[in-house]
Amino acid sequence: MSDSEPQAGAAQEIAKGYATEGAALELGTVLVDGQVDPAARVRIPLAMINRHGLVAGATGTGKTKTLQVLAEQLSAAGVPTLLADVKGDLSGLTRVGQANDRINQRAKETGDDWQPAAFGAQFLSLGTGGMGVPVRATITGFGPILLSKVLGLNDTQESTLGLIFHWPTARACRCWTRRTSVPLSST
Ligand SMILES: Nc1ncnc2c1ncn2[C@@H]1O[C@H](COP(=O)(O)OP(=O)(O)OP(=O)(O)O)[C@@H](O)[C@H]1O
Ligand SMILES: [Mg+2]
Repeated sequence: MSDSEPQAGAAQEIAKGYATEGAALELGTVLVDGQVDPAARVRIPLAMINRHGLVAGATGTGKTKTLQVLAEQLSAAGVPTLLADVKGDLSGLTRVGQANDRINQRAKETGDDWQPAAFGAQFLSLGTGGMGVPVRATITGFGPILLSKVLGLNDTQESTLGLIFHWPTARACRCWTRRTSVPLSST
């Protein structure tokens, strides 16, 4: 038995846990001790993507790339995705990637039919200072609790603000807020 045979068995065993029929996101290929088995695919059914998930790993292990792969495939499946791009490195998915020998070789090893492609994105920004479309909300939609936090109100002031919101809401009167919108701000 060669050294690689037990690894291949382990990869297949892991891939069994991801076996699924129907529409699914292709996350990649199982890697065991540096050995890739292109037949051991990791797939997540599209129908399960509305669950919670955690992508964890040491720095440089591919967390950001994994998020991009998820967002790209959701986009291709027609599912809108909201990404908080805190470090500014997710937005690269809007540009066509550059193929090179290393990437082509890696795609061959992992059994991916990778083709460089760009994906559409609408950039939003908090407040009015950013480059993207400012995210805005009606005062009613923003609500008294968030507004209290933004204004730094104490408990008494927050309670009073709650009553101010309650009065027109209880009377089904939203006329005073309908035309008013505020930029959402991180401050
Ligand atoms: N599945 C993969 N196969 C080969 N290379 C990969 C893979 N995933 C990511 N990489 C490469 O590894 C490098 C680091 O990836 P990435 O930026 O996604 O890591 P990260 O975990 O988000 O890092 P950080 O913690 O610094 O944010 C990049 O050059 C990326 O192209
Ligand atoms: Mg990252």
